[in-house]
Amino acid sequence: MDNMTFVLFGATGDLAKRKIYPALYNLYREGRMPEKISVVGLGRREYTDSKLQSVIKEALESFSRREVEPSGLEEFLEKFRYCIFDATKPESYDKLHQFIKDRESELDIPDNRLFYLSVAPTLIKTITEGLHESGISSNAGWKRLMVEKPFGSDLVTARDLNKKLKEVFTEDEIFRIDHYLGKPMVQKLESLVHANPMLKALLDHDQISNVQITASETVGVGTRAAYYDQAGAIRDMVQNHLLQLVMMTALYNPDKMSTSEIEAEKRGIMESLKPITKENMEENVVRGQYAAGQIEGQAVPAYLEEAGVAEDSNNDTFFAARLEIDNENWRGIPFYIRTGKRMKKKSTRIVVEFKCDGDEEALKDDGIEPNLLIIEINPNESMTLKINIKNQSEEKFEPEYITFSNVSATQPEAYELLLHDAMQGNETFFAHWKEVELSWKWVQPLLDEFEKDGLPLYKYPAGSDGPEEAHHLLKEDGHQWWYV
Ligand code: BG6
Repeated sequence: MDNMTFVLFGATGDLAKRKIYPALYNLYREGRMPEKISVVGLGRREYTDSKLQSVIKEALESFSRREVEPSGLEEFLEKFRYCIFDATKPESYDKLHQFIKDRESELDIPDNRLFYLSVAPTLIKTITEGLHESGISSNAGWKRLMVEKPFGSDLVTARDLNKKLKEVFTEDEIFRIDHYLGKPMVQKLESLVHANPMLKALLDHDQISNVQITASETVGVGTRAAYYDQAGAIRDMVQNHLLQLVMMTALYNPDKMSTSEIEAEKRGIMESLKPITKENMEENVVRGQYAAGQIEGQAVPAYLEEAGVAEDSNNDTFFAARLEIDNENWRGIPFYIRTGKRMKKKSTRIVVEFKCDGDEEALKDDGIEPNLLIIEINPNESMTLKINIKNQSEEKFEPEYITFSNVSATQPEAYELLLHDAMQGNETFFAHWKEVELSWKWVQPLLDEFEKDGLPLYKYPAGSDGPEEAHHLLKEDGHQWWYV
């Protein structure tokens, strides 16, 4: 891997502490970092290098998946320097430029530069412009930009942001993070079919009844009301994570694909996703907001009672929808998606339900249930086949589950995989502009209608599986959510 400078905007922030420093540390421990790397942390606080290094050490002790070992720790921390920086001041960029160059010559490394923007969305354009105007991004070596979500807040703002970034960076140089694409199980989906012809036989269009994608959480809005009350589940989870999961699930790749083929395939899936319009929205979409309830025996308040939430907020904390991908592989097979805060259980999973053969009533009498392929992404990683086995004594069938589970402490975290890929310039598991644009395009009619309160907002008790209406969505088609 090339030697480089890693410039971290937002070095004193929460994401840096929880995810970025632990990810860098684990990469370092595994020898998956460049031989020489200069990490420049930026923030407005008046930190010194040693203050930043002690903050990093604490962050590792709290959040690293691997225990922090004294051996090598000093060498790791020594890679970090701190530069006081105000993104709105041009002189800050000149100072930063000199700072980066000095470290490059001190370490004798080429001017390859990776910029990571872990900052408020409002600063992304400002920083990109600053990098350009100061000449920091006019280096001779390679340059790359990693940006966190949200990428815009609707189709217009996303396009506008992208236009700005493209004035300074090419598409190949922009790494839009969707941490769901960094989850190990999501990354494995891409190769599952071509490595397992058995699955290719299983995942036959004529055999699949429906696909269900769930990302449920037990946490509430927490301390993020200022952002979340504007964003809602639709912007926070659906436009990015859930639609990326839809794309990754629907990727049909009997042969190994290159990054650009995956990108083209994903784009094709988004282009084939039938639009939800004002006219068909109510029959295909359920929007909800949590009321007070109990989670794991603890009483929790309603969304409207959470600190920072407007008392008459019509924001969604739950979203479910029926989707159809109108292409050869998936035409006629419903994709049900749902996500919500304060639900019964934390679970990110994909369930493929297979068709049953025979008369429905007779199957029921025999105890035969649909076969399922369950891919659990979070909190545990596993794959399960649900099959029917005859119970000899009762002459009835019972469900049995064949599970492959991959729970291991050595499992890398999403940010490790994503940082490593960006350092290597591998874009496979980042959100490409076309996907992002098509996702916003798909979501936009929903945003418009939500804005006008054009769709009912159903309440659901905290600790439940969401509003009843989300169950009706499937019942109407003769289906049910599996593993609620
Ligand atoms: C983030 C959202 O992108 O994803 C959060 O902003 C959400 O609201 C989180 O809680 C869920 O991620 P994970 O990895 O815990 O499923």
